[in-house]
Amino acid sequence: MHSRLAVLVLVLGLAGGVALVAAAQNSASGLPAYTNGYAKWPKLNRKPVTTPGAHNGIKNVFQSKKKAGKAYPNGTVIVKSIAEPGAAGLPKQVAVMRKVAGKWQWVEYERSGATYGVLAQGGLCTSCHIGAKANDWVFTKGS
Ligand code: HEC
Repeated sequence: MHSRLAVLVLVLGLAGGVALVAAAQNSASGLPAYTNGYAKWPKLNRKPVTTPGAHNGIKNVFQSKKKAGKAYPNGTVIVKSIAEPGAAGLPKQVAVMRKVAGKWQWVEYERSGATYGVLAQGGLCTSCHIGAKANDWVFTKGS
């Protein structure tokens, strides 16, 4: 009886561990794995965007999927890289929107050394991006 309980506890413990690993499935850089390789995705902007605003720097916008009609399909990830002028290497900030079950999820990351951490997310982003609602919340229109 006791050993069965022990096995159950062990199994539950393992399942919990797996769930934790799945939740924290980030690439080595600290960005979520679904952004892996984004710099090679089709670019939405023709030239780097340098307009100041919420995201300041030299900006490029990459999309994992194309808009189908008026909206992006579920699973689309759009990444905006924001580099400091003159700086080489990984961009200082990376803003990410990802469509899950018809809704965009919003997170912006900032790099410290080689690792990104969360800078801001959620309502702060939508308060401004609502201005692009007619284009599925995306400001940058494809070239
Ligand atoms: C004050 C307005 C404002 C806020 C707040 C804002 N954005 Fe943006 N965002 C923009 C504008 C404008 C662009 C278009 C490109 C540019 O000018 O930088 C943009 C572009 C983007 C893009 C590329 C797709 C697109 O819409 O062109 C992503 C991804 C993005 N923002 C994510 C975020 C996230 C995540 C947050 C919250 C942490 C956020 N943004 C907060 C104004 C804002």
